[in-house]
Amino acid sequence: MPIVYRLLTVLLLIGGYSHAQTTIPIETADFAVVLQTDKSNYLNMVYCGKKLPQSADYGGIADGYQFPSDNSGSYNNAYTPAGTWNLVEPAIQVTHPDGNPSLDLKYVSHQTTRPDANSTLTTVKLADPVYKLTVTLFYKTWPKLNVVEQWSEISNAEKGPVVLQKYASANLFFPNKSFYLTSFQGTYLKEMQPMEEKLQQGLRTIDTKLGTRAMLLGTPNFMVAFDKPAQENSGMVMLGQLAWSGNYKLDFEIDSYQTLRLIAGINPYASAYTLPTGKSFTTPSLIYSLSDQGTGLASRQLQRWARDYRVLDGNGSRLTLLNNWEATYFDFDEPKLSSLIADTKKLGVDMFLLDDGWFGNKYPRNSDNAALGDWQENKKKLPNGIGYLVKEATKAGVKFGIWIEPEMVSPKSELYEKHLDWVIRQPDRPEKYYRNQLVLDLSNPQVQDFVFGVVDGLFTKNPELAFIKWDCNAVIYNAYSAWLNKQKLPQSHLYVEYVRGLYKVLERIRAKYPKVPMMLCSGGGGRGDYELLKYFTEFWPSDDTEPVERIFQQWNYSYFFPAITTDCHVTDWGKQPIKFRVDVASMGKLGFDVVVSHLSPNDLAFCQQAIKNYNGFKDIVWHGDQYRLLSPHENSAMSVAYVSEDKAKAVMFTYFHDSRVVDTNTKRPIPLAGLDPAKQYQVTEINLYPGTKSTLEDSKTYSGAFLMNVGLNPDVSARRTSVVLQLTQVP
Ligand code: DGJ
Repeated sequence: MPIVYRLLTVLLLIGGYSHAQTTIPIETADFAVVLQTDKSNYLNMVYCGKKLPQSADYGGIADGYQFPSDNSGSYNNAYTPAGTWNLVEPAIQVTHPDGNPSLDLKYVSHQTTRPDANSTLTTVKLADPVYKLTVTLFYKTWPKLNVVEQWSEISNAEKGPVVLQKYASANLFFPNKSFYLTSFQGTYLKEMQPMEEKLQQGLRTIDTKLGTRAMLLGTPNFMVAFDKPAQENSGMVMLGQLAWSGNYKLDFEIDSYQTLRLIAGINPYASAYTLPTGKSFTTPSLIYSLSDQGTGLASRQLQRWARDYRVLDGNGSRLTLLNNWEATYFDFDEPKLSSLIADTKKLGVDMFLLDDGWFGNKYPRNSDNAALGDWQENKKKLPNGIGYLVKEATKAGVKFGIWIEPEMVSPKSELYEKHLDWVIRQPDRPEKYYRNQLVLDLSNPQVQDFVFGVVDGLFTKNPELAFIKWDCNAVIYNAYSAWLNKQKLPQSHLYVEYVRGLYKVLERIRAKYPKVPMMLCSGGGGRGDYELLKYFTEFWPSDDTEPVERIFQQWNYSYFFPAITTDCHVTDWGKQPIKFRVDVASMGKLGFDVVVSHLSPNDLAFCQQAIKNYNGFKDIVWHGDQYRLLSPHENSAMSVAYVSEDKAKAVMFTYFHDSRVVDTNTKRPIPLAGLDPAKQYQVTEINLYPGTKSTLEDSKTYSGAFLMNVGLNPDVSARRTSVVLQLTQVP
C-alpha cells in the first residue's frame, strides 16, 4: 500500500477505538457491556462479552480494532444521531425548532447507583454541543440473572418544540464475526413461529404497524446467536424483547466490516413526536438476557427475572379454570351457565370464566358483529345479572371470572352512536373493520375514564369477581384521533399516545385492584409483552389449542416467558386423546374449555385426577426452572422438565408428536438437567389414563448424576404419545 494511503488510514482510524478517555463497564455476574468515549468525546460501545476479572482491562479492548471511519460514519456509537457525520441507521433523528435536522451527541457524564440490593443502574448523559438537546441512556442490570434493561430519555431545553422523527430505546454494537438472528413471527393461529437466519450485510428490520394487537404477525422477541447458530446448551446468545405494546421496530444492521448494530424502539412509522420545550420523552425498554451456555440458560435467567421483578404476582399463585368460550360461544343463558358452574366444581378447577357474549341490550352480543362498548348484562340471557352468577359460583365453591374487550367498539352499539368522536376512524372515509369492530381512542382521557369505568364498574358491583380476561381483537385501521385534532396535537402522536393511554388505565386499575389476576388476551398471541405483564398475571398465547401445535407454541414462548404466565387450555381441537391434551396444558397455567358433560366417565375421571396431580406439581412448573430437553422442531418427540429451586423435585413431560418421522431419539434415554448429581430421585409416572399401566419400572430410584449423564427413557411412541414423570428426592 503506498505510504500516503497507509497514513490516511491511520488518520482515519475510527475514533471510538483509540485515545480512550472514559470507560464505563456495565457489568452483570458473567458479562459486561462496555461504553467508552473517544478523543472527540463521542460515546461508543466497545464490548459485549464475558466479564473481565480486572475492570482496568476494559480500557484496552478498543485498541485491538482498526475499522477505518470514512464517510460512511461511525459504526459503534452508543446512540447514533442522524443528520451530521453518521450515515448508517440512526437511533435518533430530530428536527430542531429552527427546522435544522442535524444532531450530534457527545458524552457529558455518567453515574452508577444501586436502586436496591439486586440491581444496578448506570445512567450516561449525552448532549448536543450546538442545540440544547440531551439524551440520557439508562442501563439497569440484575447482575445475578445476567439481565439488562435499557432505555433512553430525550430532553428538550431548546427555545421551541423539537420533533422526534426516530427515538430508539437502545442502540447496541457487536464486533463478532457472524450473527444468527431468530425472530418469532407468524399469523393468527400460527403465532410465534421461530425463524433463524444468518444476518448478511445490510439492514434486516422486524416491525409492526398494526397499532393494537401489535404482535399478531410478528413479535418484538428475538434471539441473536454469536458466531454460530443458536444452541440450547452452548454458545453466546442474547434473548431480547422490546417491552412496548404498540408499533415497534427492531433494526439489525450488518455494516461493511460485518459488525452488527442493533437498534430497537418504537416504530417511527407515522409517529413523529413533537416534544415541547422543557419536556422529556422516555422510551420503552429493551430487555435482554445474556448467556454463553446457549438459549437454555438465557431463558431460565429471563424467566426468573420475569417472575422476580416484572410480572404481576410473578411468584404467586394462579387459578385453574373452566372457560365457556368453546363450549357455548355466544349461545348461553342463565341455566346453561349455572350448570357449567356446577361442572367447574365437578371437574375440580378453581374458577368458572364467563367469556364473550354476556352484554348488550339494544344490540345484543349474539355474534361478533355487535355490542362491544355496551357493557351492561344482556337482560334476556342474564335476567339476574352477573351478581347472580357470582353468587351461584360462590355457592358451588368456585370463583367467578369474566371476559371483557374494553378498548373496542362495535359500529352496531350504543357507545358508537353516542360517542363517534371516541372512535379511531377517518371522518371522511369509509370505515374498515377487523373482526367487525373498531378501536377506541385511548389517547383521549375521557376514553381512558370509560375503559377504567368498565373494570371498576364490574368490581364495584361484584366485589367477589376473581378474574378478568382482557381481550383485544382488532388492529388500528384509518388511524385518526378526533381528540388529538381538538387538542391541536399532531396526528402522528396517536400510536404512541394510544399505548400510553392504555398504560394509564392499567395503572389506575392496579392502584385500586392491585391483586386480582388478569389475563392478557388478544385473539391469540397479539399481546405478550413485558410492559403489559407489569399489570397482568398471564397471557393467552394463541387461539390454536390443537395440542400438537401447542407443543411447538409453548416451546417457542418459553424462550421468553415463564410457564406461570402462559395460559394453556384443554379444548376439543384436534384428534389427540384427552390425556395428551391435559398433559400439554399442564406445562403452563392449566385451564379447560370443554363441555364437561360430554366427557366419557373415564375421560372425566382422568381429568379430575390430572387436576389433583397438577395441584401437586404446579408449584414446580410455575416457580421452578425450565429445562428444554428435546426440541419438537428437530425430533419426533418433545421433552421438557421443570425443576424446583431446591432441586428436590422435578416433573418431566415427554410427547411423541410425529409418527411420519423416523427418529431414533425416542429409543434412547433423554438426559435430564438441573438436578443435584448427589441426590437420589424416585421416578413415578403420573397422569395415567384409567385402566392403563406405566411401561416403566414403578417408582425406581436413580441418582441425579445418572439422570443427567445417562438419562431416562420415558418410552414414548405412536401408542404411548404422552408421558408425565414426577421426580422426588428420596432421603
Ligand atoms: C378471542 C379469544 O382469543 C377467545 O379466547 C375468545 O375470548 C374470543 N376472542 C371471544 O370473542
